[in-house]
Amino acid sequence: MNHGLKDAWQHAFRVGAAVSGKTLKQKEADEIITRHFSSLTPENAMKFGEIHPEEKSWNWEETDFIADYARAKNIALRGHTIVWHNQTPSWLFQSGSTGQVSKIELFRRLENHIAALTRRYNQAVYAWDVLNEVIDVEKGDDKGFRLSSWYKIGGRELYEFAFKTVREASPNARLFYNDYNIESGAKLKATLRFLAELLDAGVPVQGIGIQGHWFYNYPGEDTLRTAIEKYAALGLEIEFTEVDISAYEFDESRDQKDFFSSMPEDRVRKQAERYKELFCIAANYPAVKNITTWGIADNHTWLDNFPVRGRKNWPLLFDQNYHSKEIVPALVETGLSLSD
Ligand code: GLA
Repeated sequence: MNHGLKDAWQHAFRVGAAVSGKTLKQKEADEIITRHFSSLTPENAMKFGEIHPEEKSWNWEETDFIADYARAKNIALRGHTIVWHNQTPSWLFQSGSTGQVSKIELFRRLENHIAALTRRYNQAVYAWDVLNEVIDVEKGDDKGFRLSSWYKIGGRELYEFAFKTVREASPNARLFYNDYNIESGAKLKATLRFLAELLDAGVPVQGIGIQGHWFYNYPGEDTLRTAIEKYAALGLEIEFTEVDISAYEFDESRDQKDFFSSMPEDRVRKQAERYKELFCIAANYPAVKNITTWGIADNHTWLDNFPVRGRKNWPLLFDQNYHSKEIVPALVETGLSLSD
């Protein structure tokens, strides 16, 4: 009777959440994780700028804490993330006080970063988000790559180098490309093309991380199914890595006077439908291995400050007081009924 999400869906995929060290120290969060989650992702602690702020200095403490917690509770851990354009330290792309790092030196820095990370966390981490968000079909170059410092200095080669280097250093981990808005439209196309090219060239990528920063009215069933089928057809594993379902539509309520003081009931219902649809559709495809939400409870979500600073949002499965939303027991029941 006391089943959690992870037990109810273990026949299909892991269920996870992004966490900070601070979150894990809260009793209510600890209880929810213990009961419901079989996978954790460090929300920020492992990002380049957080864990490796100076060339010779590392902040291991928070990720060690998360890794120890996961190990003690037998929870899987995702390594997030290695090559990303955000939250990078300033030393990384610099040489001397004014110059830009050379291509060869950037490869060397990346290699050292990967060596140290994998040495420390190979036992703990089952999957690495090797690349995060390198595709940008709107502002990228004519091949659809984001014009980040990584890309401008290292080129596309750096992306292949990253996968190969992590593979050598971490032979048993699953290696992922992770990105947002890649379940439909031009970005789905560009991502499929990039992954097919990597696979053709023998680059060791095993999985696609579909972030899933979504909306109460998006995506629908067809979008989900089509995306899953297309990525699975490449032979990739699929993980929904950062799911949260906003109370607002993408372009809505950017003005303070339109903010909700609580989530409207019809949207709560639609949000629940989106969660249920995702879990049920994902369970039909053996390629889907994980559904992770970007946070645990609505008291801590990046969407309170994105895309509008200070606009409260309620995108997760647990409310601001760490109580299950109605969708949680419904999901547990559905998962159990599908496992018979
Ligand atoms: C991206 C990153 C995550 C996180 C979210 C917003 O999706 O992959 O690590 O930073 O943005 O918080």
